[in-house]
Amino acid sequence: MTKPLVYLTRRLPGQVLSALGPDVDIRMWDDDSPCPRDVLLQACTQATAVLTQATDQINEEFLATAPHLRIIAHFGVGYNNIDVAACTARSIRVTNTPGVLTQTTADMGFALLMAAARRIVEGHTCIARDEWRYAAVPLHMAGQDIYGATLGVIGAGRIGGAVLRRGRGFNMKLLYHNRAPSATLEADTGAAFRSLDELLGQSNFVVMCVPLTPETRGMLSAREFALMRPDGVFVNISRGQTIIEADLVAALKAGRPWAAGLDVFEQEPARSTNPLLSLPNVVCTPHCGSSSIATRTGMGVLCARNIVAMLAKQPALTPVN
Ligand code: DGY
Repeated sequence: MTKPLVYLTRRLPGQVLSALGPDVDIRMWDDDSPCPRDVLLQACTQATAVLTQATDQINEEFLATAPHLRIIAHFGVGYNNIDVAACTARSIRVTNTPGVLTQTTADMGFALLMAAARRIVEGHTCIARDEWRYAAVPLHMAGQDIYGATLGVIGAGRIGGAVLRRGRGFNMKLLYHNRAPSATLEADTGAAFRSLDELLGQSNFVVMCVPLTPETRGMLSAREFALMRPDGVFVNISRGQTIIEADLVAALKAGRPWAAGLDVFEQEPARSTNPLLSLPNVVCTPHCGSSSIATRTGMGVLCARNIVAMLAKQPALTPVN
């Protein structure tokens, strides 16, 4: 009997292949570059399962060429690249990887917050370029205090909640903005609900954690940045398209917010020509919020387990639909 075909659209560690087990035929785009569209479409004509990445557009065009597909196991918690309704209409299971990446991504949010507030990259660059001219200059590389400041999280779900919990260790006043207040979150973190405008005006640190949806696309633009404090730090660990990037550039140049830490961009991969990269008060990382070795491996293994569960006719571990 032929084994079901599982297609992996990017090179993944051996543990992921092992977790798929011996009962499947595994094929993989064995490279770090995105799987070309024609290769993906051709490879999936016979596939029962596909393990996708954020660069794979799972839409009607794709689904029409994959008649045997039973599951899309997506490597990531955000799945804005997948037309879930179209998958559901074809009885194709969609899974993602929540939970396993929560703490690692929240760590990145806090790392960017601290790096931007304390000018870590600027300081490193200053020494590396031999621009540290005098020792003991009182306001050299003076930044913003974190301990005891106000932290506002926009989109306090799993990751946003974990960012808030980190703020407790720094004795921060905690605020959040969601579509609606959550008594559970408030009891758990001690955070207080604010309208978006209130949160922007009252927080020293604003951390963006919303998923990308039609409602959150372009959620923060010139008007919202102008509401931030002049000593405020903006951090984005959600998706680049949740803000209007050109407006953030203009806002940073105008001095409000004071600095930014960004893991996500409107266009990825971001290039050195992106105006954000020329601003000294911006710290950037290449969309690697969940990228610890353990977490990225765990995400792949979770995808594999979702595929194995589907093949065994068992419920998904982390269903989207
Ligand atoms: C996620 O899990 O959604 C990360 O942003 C990777 O795309």
